[in-house]
Amino acid sequence: MLDGREKSPLAAHKDMYLDKQGQVNKQLSLNGALAAGIPGMSAALVYLSKNYGELSLAKSLAPAIRHAEQGFAISERHRKLLRFRQSVLKQQTEIAELFLVDGELPKKGTLLQQKALAETLRQIAVKGKAGFYQGDIADKLVQSVQELGGIWQLEDLKKYQVKLRQPVVGQYKELQITSAALPSAGGTLLVETLNILETLDLESADEITHQHLIIESLRHAFHDRALYLGDDDFVAVPSERLLNKQYAYGLASSIRADKSLKSDALSGYSKAQQGGRNTTHFSIIDDQGNRVAATLSINFPFGAGIVAKGTVVVLNNEMDDFQASEKAVNGYGLVGGKANLIAPEKRMLSSMNPSFVEQQGRIGVLGTLGGSRIPSMVLLAILDFAKGNDPSSQVRVKRFHHQYKPDIVHYEKGGLNETEMLALKKLGHQLKQYYNYGNMQAVQLGKSTGILSAASDPCGEGFASVQKISQ
Ligand code: GLY
Repeated sequence: MLDGREKSPLAAHKDMYLDKQGQVNKQLSLNGALAAGIPGMSAALVYLSKNYGELSLAKSLAPAIRHAEQGFAISERHRKLLRFRQSVLKQQTEIAELFLVDGELPKKGTLLQQKALAETLRQIAVKGKAGFYQGDIADKLVQSVQELGGIWQLEDLKKYQVKLRQPVVGQYKELQITSAALPSAGGTLLVETLNILETLDLESADEITHQHLIIESLRHAFHDRALYLGDDDFVAVPSERLLNKQYAYGLASSIRADKSLKSDALSGYSKAQQGGRNTTHFSIIDDQGNRVAATLSINFPFGAGIVAKGTVVVLNNEMDDFQASEKAVNGYGLVGGKANLIAPEKRMLSSMNPSFVEQQGRIGVLGTLGGSRIPSMVLLAILDFAKGNDPSSQVRVKRFHHQYKPDIVHYEKGGLNETEMLALKKLGHQLKQYYNYGNMQAVQLGKSTGILSAASDPCGEGFASVQKISQ
């Protein structure tokens, strides 16, 4: 697994978002220059192209440069995301002038041109990693961050390195799962949840018990996320135990079919709240069987709500994915522990969950955006794959989610019907409808037939196709 996750700046420290009373100031971890982690995406693209690509980076980046230079018409979804972050964007002139019109939302179809971004991408295309992490762009990034009260230094950018990691692998019945390693929590969560589910008799359960068992399994896996997960280059994570089938068996023994467990029965954390949306995912299989599951994130839409002057690089707010204090709740309502506290150069936990799923005869690649709900979406899609269904079914699975805290089952509109809601309430679950949060991309290859199929989430923005590419 190629890890291009952001990392915290050298000058970061564990109490950087606490006020004098020791309370977390959420504004600082979510909005503005202190919220931005040292970006990894440019380094990952350069590494990917150099080590695995047939095309030069200049060629791969050409369409992005064209879109930045010539512009593209903004969609309704783009407007919605702008609305969500409008008040933050209005606080920096550069980003407000770029994305808003006199502080207001532009009309759907308005052309968005980002000429300075085209130049930034050209620097990367020509100079590789040095084009972003050193020289003119790096100077501009650091200068802007510092002017806006942030703590980046040139050294932070110069020192950024991608990491190659062993992916998390697991087995669910006949399926082999390959998924994201730490610092993304997604793979561990996914495999742990599947291990718990494997010990339960899902096939013979009725639809409601089926949903209930998935919710209860997610509760346990997210509880472990909160307790144990963090960047394992910095903290000891008991990954072997968390991924062990016997361990899952023990957790499953506390799951009752007739009653929900209360999250507070597992351990106490402060009350959680709700957060925003983020992220992009690509699923690809080529004609030689090479596969890519790539999830990319700047956390919230429009990241920290600021751009570095003269670069049109929108700065992320990934620092919010750390635990700002042991009792803090992040923008997705996730709680966590010591393992995910801030330290210089540490990578913050992620929920990203790019995954491969294989069975005799079939290979699937999938992933989605959706913050803390990513692992449950991927889980539901993999369970659908296990039933023999194809990508167009996997991206349409009815979605519900539990993340230990808050102790609430979130569901998309239509994710649970009236009968299911009534029955789940009777089992003790508290339910809450959420906006339609998925944007899953799934592709599949029939090993013997060679047939490729692809599907894109109907409630997201994206497309899926099987194409013959001529070069
Ligand atoms: N920034 C959201 C995540 O990585 O989970």
